[in-house]
Amino acid sequence: MKALIKEKPEQGLRLADVPEPSIGPGDVLIKVLRTGICGTDLHIRAWDGWAQQAIRTPLVVGHEFVGDVVAIGRDVVDVAVGDRVSGEGHLVCGKCRNCQAGRRHLCRATVGLGVGRDGAFAEYVALPSANVWVHRVPVDLDIAAIFDPFGNAVHTALSFPLVGEDVLITGAGPIGLMAAAVARHAGARHVAITDVSEERLELARKIGVSLALDAKDATIADGQRELGLREGFDVGLEMSGRPEAMRDMIANMTHGGRIAMLGLPAQEFAVDWARVVTSMLTVKGIYGREMFETWYAMSVLLEGGLDLAPVITGRYGYRDFEAAFTDAASGKGGKVILDWTA
Ligand SMILES: NC(=O)c1ccc[n+]([C@@H]2O[C@H](COP(=O)([O-])OP(=O)(O)OC[C@H]3O[C@@H](n4cnc5c(N)ncnc54)[C@H](O)[C@@H]3O)[C@@H](O)[C@H]2O)c1
Ligand SMILES: [Zn+2]
Ligand SMILES: [Zn+2]
Repeated sequence: MKALIKEKPEQGLRLADVPEPSIGPGDVLIKVLRTGICGTDLHIRAWDGWAQQAIRTPLVVGHEFVGDVVAIGRDVVDVAVGDRVSGEGHLVCGKCRNCQAGRRHLCRATVGLGVGRDGAFAEYVALPSANVWVHRVPVDLDIAAIFDPFGNAVHTALSFPLVGEDVLITGAGPIGLMAAAVARHAGARHVAITDVSEERLELARKIGVSLALDAKDATIADGQRELGLREGFDVGLEMSGRPEAMRDMIANMTHGGRIAMLGLPAQEFAVDWARVVTSMLTVKGIYGREMFETWYAMSVLLEGGLDLAPVITGRYGYRDFEAAFTDAASGKGGKVILDWTA
Protein backbone atom coordinates (compact mmCIF):
# COMPACT_ATOMS: atom_id res chain seq x y z
CA MET A 1 0.00 0.00 0.00
CA LYS A 2 0.99 3.66 -0.36
CA ALA A 3 2.04 5.45 2.82
CA LEU A 4 3.77 8.67 3.86
CA ILE A 5 6.83 7.67 5.82
CA LYS A 6 9.73 9.14 7.71
CA GLU A 7 12.31 6.80 6.28
CA LYS A 8 15.53 8.01 7.89
CA PRO A 9 16.50 10.44 10.65
CA GLU A 10 16.57 13.47 8.36
CA GLN A 11 14.31 16.26 7.10
CA GLY A 12 11.34 15.40 4.82
CA LEU A 13 8.73 12.69 4.17
CA ARG A 14 8.48 10.15 1.36
CA LEU A 15 5.52 8.47 -0.37
CA ALA A 16 6.50 4.80 -0.35
CA ASP A 17 5.10 1.31 -0.90
CA VAL A 18 4.94 -0.50 2.44
CA PRO A 19 3.22 -3.74 3.57
CA GLU A 20 -0.40 -3.44 4.72
CA PRO A 21 -0.58 -3.53 8.54
CA SER A 22 -1.55 -6.87 10.10
CA ILE A 23 -4.20 -6.99 12.85
CA GLY A 24 -4.28 -8.84 16.17
CA PRO A 25 -7.39 -10.38 17.79
CA GLY A 26 -8.52 -7.05 19.31
CA ASP A 27 -7.71 -4.81 16.33
CA VAL A 28 -9.56 -3.46 13.34
CA LEU A 29 -8.21 -2.71 9.87
CA ILE A 30 -9.42 0.57 8.38
CA LYS A 31 -9.35 1.77 4.77
CA VAL A 32 -8.33 5.40 5.13
CA LEU A 33 -10.47 7.95 3.27
CA ARG A 34 -9.19 11.34 4.46
CA THR A 35 -6.59 12.60 6.90
CA GLY A 36 -5.78 15.92 8.58
CA ILE A 37 -2.30 17.43 8.80
CA CYS A 38 -1.35 18.34 12.38
CA GLY A 39 1.44 20.45 13.86
CA THR A 40 2.95 17.17 15.10
CA ASP A 41 3.30 15.97 11.50
CA LEU A 42 5.00 19.27 10.59
CA HIS A 43 7.51 18.74 13.44
CA ILE A 44 8.23 15.20 12.22
CA ARG A 45 8.66 16.39 8.64
CA ALA A 46 10.98 19.25 9.71
CA TRP A 47 12.93 16.83 11.97
CA ASP A 48 13.31 19.39 14.76
CA GLY A 49 14.65 18.75 18.27
CA TRP A 50 11.36 17.30 19.53
CA ALA A 51 11.05 14.93 16.55
CA GLN A 52 14.64 13.72 16.91
CA GLN A 53 14.05 12.57 20.48
CA ALA A 54 10.48 11.26 19.95
CA ILE A 55 10.64 9.33 16.65
CA ARG A 56 12.25 6.01 15.67
CA THR A 57 12.51 5.47 11.90
CA PRO A 58 11.14 4.07 9.69
CA LEU A 59 7.65 5.25 10.63
CA VAL A 60 4.31 5.76 8.87
CA VAL A 61 3.24 9.21 10.12
CA GLY A 62 -0.20 10.77 10.73
CA HIS A 63 -2.93 10.37 13.34
CA GLU A 64 -5.95 12.41 12.20
CA PHE A 65 -8.16 10.31 9.94
CA VAL A 66 -11.53 8.96 8.91
CA GLY A 67 -12.01 5.64 7.16
CA ASP A 68 -14.12 2.52 6.74
CA VAL A 69 -13.55 -0.71 8.66
CA VAL A 70 -12.61 -3.51 6.24
CA ALA A 71 -11.57 -6.29 8.67
CA ILE A 72 -11.89 -7.06 12.39
CA GLY A 73 -9.91 -9.33 14.75
CA ARG A 74 -11.67 -12.39 16.17
CA ASP A 75 -12.26 -10.78 19.61
CA VAL A 76 -13.82 -7.57 18.28
CA VAL A 77 -17.54 -7.34 19.07
CA ASP A 78 -18.46 -3.67 19.09
CA VAL A 79 -17.15 -2.58 15.68
CA ALA A 80 -18.26 -4.12 12.38
CA VAL A 81 -16.95 -4.28 8.84
CA GLY A 82 -18.41 -1.32 6.96
CA ASP A 83 -18.50 1.04 9.98
CA ARG A 84 -17.27 4.57 9.26
CA VAL A 85 -14.79 5.49 11.97
CA SER A 86 -12.32 8.05 13.26
CA GLY A 87 -9.57 7.04 15.66
CA GLU A 88 -8.41 8.09 19.11
CA GLY A 89 -4.68 8.46 18.48
CA HIS A 90 -3.63 7.96 22.11
CA LEU A 91 -3.12 4.25 22.83
CA VAL A 92 -3.23 3.74 26.59
CA CYS A 93 -1.62 1.01 28.70
CA GLY A 94 -4.77 -0.28 30.44
CA LYS A 95 -2.74 -1.15 33.56
CA CYS A 96 -1.74 2.06 35.35
CA ARG A 97 -3.78 3.49 38.21
CA ASN A 98 -5.63 5.99 36.04
CA CYS A 99 -6.40 3.48 33.28
CA GLN A 100 -7.74 1.02 35.84
CA ALA A 101 -9.92 3.74 37.32
CA GLY A 102 -11.37 4.51 33.86
CA ARG A 103 -9.47 7.80 33.52
CA ARG A 104 -7.73 6.72 30.37
CA HIS A 105 -6.86 10.23 29.20
CA LEU A 106 -4.60 10.43 32.29
CA CYS A 107 -2.62 7.28 31.38
CA ARG A 108 1.10 7.56 32.22
CA ALA A 109 2.22 5.37 29.33
CA THR A 110 0.35 6.71 26.30
CA VAL A 111 1.70 5.74 22.86
CA GLY A 112 0.85 8.07 19.97
CA LEU A 113 -0.43 6.82 16.61
CA GLY A 114 1.94 8.07 13.90
CA VAL A 115 4.49 8.98 16.61
CA GLY A 116 5.25 5.87 18.70
CA ARG A 117 3.76 3.42 16.18
CA ASP A 118 2.78 3.37 12.50
CA GLY A 119 0.07 5.90 11.74
CA ALA A 120 -2.74 6.85 9.39
CA PHE A 121 -1.15 8.64 6.40
CA ALA A 122 -1.58 5.45 4.40
CA GLU A 123 -4.18 3.52 2.47
CA TYR A 124 -4.80 1.33 5.54
CA VAL A 125 -4.31 1.74 9.28
CA ALA A 126 -4.69 -0.83 12.09
CA LEU A 127 -5.98 0.21 15.52
CA PRO A 128 -7.24 -1.52 18.69
CA SER A 129 -11.05 -1.59 18.50
CA ALA A 130 -11.13 0.29 21.84
CA ASN A 131 -9.56 3.29 20.06
CA VAL A 132 -12.16 3.47 17.34
CA TRP A 133 -15.03 5.97 17.31
CA VAL A 134 -17.91 4.83 15.11
CA HIS A 135 -19.85 7.64 13.41
CA ARG A 136 -23.41 6.48 14.12
CA VAL A 137 -24.79 9.65 12.52
CA PRO A 138 -23.37 10.74 9.13
CA VAL A 139 -20.63 13.39 9.44
CA ASP A 140 -19.00 15.39 6.64
CA LEU A 141 -15.83 13.47 5.68
CA ASP A 142 -13.48 16.43 6.06
CA ILE A 143 -14.83 17.09 9.56
CA ALA A 144 -14.66 13.40 10.48
CA ALA A 145 -10.99 13.46 9.41
CA ILE A 146 -10.19 16.09 12.06
CA PHE A 147 -12.01 14.63 15.05
CA ASP A 148 -8.68 14.31 16.88
CA PRO A 149 -7.86 18.08 16.97
CA PHE A 150 -11.58 18.91 17.20
CA GLY A 151 -11.42 16.79 20.35
CA ASN A 152 -8.54 18.90 21.69
CA ALA A 153 -10.71 21.97 21.12
CA VAL A 154 -13.79 20.44 22.78
CA HIS A 155 -11.83 19.02 25.72
CA THR A 156 -10.30 22.45 26.37
CA ALA A 157 -13.37 24.59 25.69
CA LEU A 158 -15.67 22.47 27.87
CA SER A 159 -13.17 22.18 30.76
CA PHE A 160 -14.98 24.94 32.63
CA PRO A 161 -18.62 26.06 32.47
CA LEU A 162 -18.92 28.87 29.93
CA VAL A 163 -22.62 29.61 29.57
CA GLY A 164 -22.97 33.39 29.75
CA GLU A 165 -19.24 33.80 30.46
CA ASP A 166 -16.70 36.00 28.70
CA VAL A 167 -14.15 33.72 27.05
CA LEU A 168 -10.67 34.64 25.87
CA ILE A 169 -8.81 32.39 23.42
CA THR A 170 -5.14 33.09 22.66
CA GLY A 171 -4.13 31.57 19.30
CA ALA A 172 -6.44 31.25 16.27
CA GLY A 173 -4.76 28.19 14.77
CA PRO A 174 -7.07 25.35 13.70
CA ILE A 175 -7.66 24.30 17.31
CA GLY A 176 -8.24 27.83 18.60
CA LEU A 177 -10.72 28.41 15.76
CA MET A 178 -12.62 25.23 16.59
CA ALA A 179 -12.63 26.14 20.29
CA ALA A 180 -14.11 29.52 19.38
CA ALA A 181 -16.89 27.81 17.43
CA VAL A 182 -17.58 25.47 20.37
CA ALA A 183 -17.60 28.32 22.92
CA ARG A 184 -20.05 30.28 20.77
CA HIS A 185 -22.28 27.27 20.23
CA ALA A 186 -22.18 26.35 23.94
CA GLY A 187 -23.48 29.74 25.06
CA ALA A 188 -20.58 32.02 25.99
CA ARG A 189 -21.47 35.72 26.03
CA HIS A 190 -18.33 37.15 24.44
CA VAL A 191 -15.69 35.08 22.65
CA ALA A 192 -12.52 37.08 22.05
CA ILE A 193 -9.62 35.54 20.16
CA THR A 194 -6.07 36.76 19.54
CA ASP A 195 -3.45 35.84 16.95
CA VAL A 196 -0.65 37.48 14.97
CA SER A 197 -1.95 36.26 11.57
CA GLU A 198 -4.52 38.53 9.93
CA GLU A 199 -5.68 35.60 7.72
CA ARG A 200 -6.47 33.49 10.78
CA LEU A 201 -8.21 36.38 12.54
CA GLU A 202 -10.37 36.71 9.43
CA LEU A 203 -11.32 33.02 9.71
CA ALA A 204 -12.24 33.67 13.36
CA ARG A 205 -14.56 36.48 12.26
CA LYS A 206 -16.26 34.04 9.86
CA ILE A 207 -16.87 31.77 12.83
CA GLY A 208 -18.62 34.62 14.59
CA VAL A 209 -16.32 35.67 17.44
CA SER A 210 -17.17 38.91 19.26
CA LEU A 211 -13.64 40.22 18.80
CA ALA A 212 -10.61 39.06 16.77
CA LEU A 213 -7.56 40.92 18.03
CA ASP A 214 -4.16 41.19 16.37
CA ALA A 215 -1.66 40.69 19.21
CA LYS A 216 1.01 42.49 17.15
CA ASP A 217 -0.68 45.84 17.55
CA ALA A 218 -3.12 45.56 20.46
CA THR A 219 -3.13 44.17 24.00
CA ILE A 220 -5.82 42.06 25.59
CA ALA A 221 -6.56 45.06 27.84
CA ASP A 222 -7.44 46.98 24.66
CA GLY A 223 -9.74 44.09 23.75
CA GLN A 224 -11.45 44.24 27.15
CA ARG A 225 -12.13 47.94 26.66
CA GLU A 226 -13.52 47.34 23.18
CA LEU A 227 -15.94 44.73 24.54
CA GLY A 228 -16.88 46.87 27.52
CA LEU A 229 -15.66 44.35 30.10
CA ARG A 230 -15.00 45.80 33.53
CA GLU A 231 -13.50 42.95 35.54
CA GLY A 232 -11.68 40.71 33.08
CA PHE A 233 -12.34 37.42 31.28
CA ASP A 234 -13.99 34.55 33.13
CA VAL A 235 -12.53 31.67 31.12
CA GLY A 236 -9.21 31.60 29.23
CA LEU A 237 -8.26 28.99 26.61
CA GLU A 238 -4.53 29.15 25.82
CA MET A 239 -4.01 27.73 22.34
CA SER A 240 -0.85 29.37 21.03
CA GLY A 241 1.92 27.89 23.19
CA ARG A 242 3.43 31.41 23.30
CA PRO A 243 4.77 32.87 26.59
CA GLU A 244 3.66 36.42 25.76
CA ALA A 245 0.11 35.21 25.09
CA MET A 246 -0.08 33.35 28.41
CA ARG A 247 1.30 36.36 30.30
CA ASP A 248 -1.22 38.74 28.73
CA MET A 249 -4.03 36.27 29.44
CA ILE A 250 -3.09 36.00 33.13
CA ALA A 251 -3.04 39.81 33.35
CA ASN A 252 -6.60 40.05 32.00
CA MET A 253 -8.52 37.40 33.93
CA THR A 254 -11.21 38.17 36.47
CA HIS A 255 -10.61 37.17 40.10
CA GLY A 256 -11.36 33.46 40.35
CA GLY A 257 -10.95 33.11 36.59
CA ARG A 258 -10.16 29.73 35.05
CA ILE A 259 -7.56 28.97 32.39
CA ALA A 260 -7.40 25.75 30.35
CA MET A 261 -4.01 25.48 28.70
CA LEU A 262 -3.61 23.33 25.59
CA GLY A 263 -0.81 25.20 23.77
CA LEU A 264 2.52 23.45 24.16
CA PRO A 265 5.32 25.91 24.91
CA ALA A 266 8.65 25.02 23.31
CA GLN A 267 10.53 26.05 26.46
CA GLU A 268 10.09 26.94 30.12
CA PHE A 269 9.01 30.53 30.68
CA ALA A 270 8.23 32.89 33.54
CA VAL A 271 4.74 34.14 34.46
CA ASP A 272 3.54 36.54 37.15
CA TRP A 273 2.75 33.92 39.80
CA ALA A 274 1.86 36.60 42.34
CA ARG A 275 -0.94 37.60 39.99
CA VAL A 276 -2.10 33.97 39.70
CA VAL A 277 -2.20 33.77 43.51
CA THR A 278 -3.85 37.09 44.29
CA SER A 279 -6.37 36.75 41.44
CA MET A 280 -6.99 33.18 42.67
CA LEU A 281 -6.76 31.76 39.17
CA THR A 282 -7.10 28.08 38.25
CA VAL A 283 -4.76 26.83 35.52
CA LYS A 284 -5.54 23.39 34.12
CA GLY A 285 -3.30 21.56 31.62
CA ILE A 286 -5.10 19.74 28.82
CA TYR A 287 -3.67 16.81 26.88
CA GLY A 288 -5.54 14.87 24.23
CA ARG A 289 -9.20 14.05 24.64
CA GLU A 290 -11.24 12.37 27.39
CA MET A 291 -11.97 8.81 26.33
CA PHE A 292 -14.67 8.82 25.27
CA GLU A 293 -16.65 11.60 26.85
CA THR A 294 -15.03 14.20 24.56
CA TRP A 295 -15.85 12.05 21.52
CA TYR A 296 -19.47 11.80 22.60
CA ALA A 297 -19.58 15.59 23.00
CA MET A 298 -18.05 16.11 19.53
CA SER A 299 -20.63 13.94 17.79
CA VAL A 300 -23.61 15.49 19.54
CA LEU A 301 -22.33 19.07 19.12
CA LEU A 302 -22.22 18.46 15.35
CA GLU A 303 -25.67 16.85 15.45
CA GLY A 304 -26.86 19.96 17.27
CA GLY A 305 -25.71 22.21 14.44
CA LEU A 306 -22.15 23.23 15.35
CA ASP A 307 -20.56 24.44 12.10
CA LEU A 308 -16.83 23.81 11.60
CA ALA A 309 -16.80 24.29 7.81
CA PRO A 310 -14.81 27.60 7.88
CA VAL A 311 -11.95 25.82 9.66
CA ILE A 312 -11.06 23.67 6.64
CA THR A 313 -9.14 25.72 4.09
CA GLY A 314 -6.99 23.22 2.15
CA ARG A 315 -7.82 19.98 0.31
CA TYR A 316 -5.24 17.89 -1.60
CA GLY A 317 -4.88 14.39 -3.05
CA TYR A 318 -2.27 12.38 -1.10
CA ARG A 319 0.17 12.45 -4.02
CA ASP A 320 0.32 16.25 -3.63
CA PHE A 321 1.44 15.90 -0.02
CA GLU A 322 4.38 18.29 -0.43
CA ALA A 323 2.05 21.13 -1.46
CA ALA A 324 -0.36 20.20 1.34
CA PHE A 325 2.38 20.24 3.99
CA THR A 326 3.69 23.57 2.70
CA ASP A 327 0.15 24.97 2.94
CA ALA A 328 -0.25 23.63 6.50
CA ALA A 329 3.16 25.00 7.54
CA SER A 330 2.37 28.50 6.24
CA GLY A 331 0.57 29.33 9.51
CA LYS A 332 -2.01 31.33 7.58
CA GLY A 333 -4.97 29.05 6.88
CA GLY A 334 -7.02 26.58 8.83
CA LYS A 335 -6.95 22.81 8.60
CA VAL A 336 -5.46 21.02 5.56
CA ILE A 337 -6.96 17.69 4.42
CA LEU A 338 -5.33 14.88 2.39
CA ASP A 339 -7.67 12.69 0.34
CA TRP A 340 -6.46 9.05 0.17
CA THR A 341 -9.00 7.99 -2.45
CA ALA A 342 -8.07 10.58 -5.12
N1 LIG B 1 -2.08 19.48 24.65
C1 LIG B 1 -2.44 18.76 23.57
O1 LIG B 1 -2.95 17.64 23.64
C2 LIG B 1 -2.24 19.38 22.23
C3 LIG B 1 -2.73 18.74 21.09
C4 LIG B 1 -2.60 19.38 19.85
C5 LIG B 1 -1.97 20.62 19.78
N2 LIG B 1 -1.46 21.19 20.92
C6 LIG B 1 -0.87 22.52 20.92
O2 LIG B 1 -1.95 23.44 20.89
C7 LIG B 1 -1.59 24.64 20.20
C8 LIG B 1 -2.60 24.93 19.12
O3 LIG B 1 -2.57 23.95 18.08
P1 LIG B 1 -2.78 24.38 16.56
O4 LIG B 1 -2.70 23.16 15.74
O5 LIG B 1 -3.99 25.24 16.44
O6 LIG B 1 -1.42 25.21 16.42
P2 LIG B 1 -0.96 26.44 15.52
O7 LIG B 1 0.51 26.55 15.73
O8 LIG B 1 -1.50 26.32 14.15
O9 LIG B 1 -1.68 27.70 16.23
C9 LIG B 1 -1.07 28.54 17.13
C10 LIG B 1 -1.47 29.97 16.75
O10 LIG B 1 -0.95 30.86 17.73
C11 LIG B 1 -0.64 32.05 17.06
N3 LIG B 1 0.21 32.93 17.87
C12 LIG B 1 1.56 33.11 17.82
N4 LIG B 1 1.93 34.07 18.70
C13 LIG B 1 0.80 34.51 19.30
C14 LIG B 1 0.54 35.51 20.28
N5 LIG B 1 1.51 36.22 20.83
N6 LIG B 1 -0.75 35.71 20.67
C15 LIG B 1 -1.75 34.97 20.13
N7 LIG B 1 -1.55 34.02 19.18
C16 LIG B 1 -0.29 33.80 18.77
C17 LIG B 1 -0.02 31.58 15.75
O11 LIG B 1 -0.01 32.60 14.76
C18 LIG B 1 -0.93 30.41 15.39
O12 LIG B 1 -2.00 30.81 14.55
C19 LIG B 1 -0.15 24.40 19.74
O13 LIG B 1 0.73 24.97 20.70
C20 LIG B 1 -0.02 22.90 19.74
O14 LIG B 1 1.32 22.47 19.93
C21 LIG B 1 -1.60 20.59 22.13
ZN1 LIG C 1 -3.13 16.15 15.59
ZN1 LIG D 1 -2.34 3.62 31.59
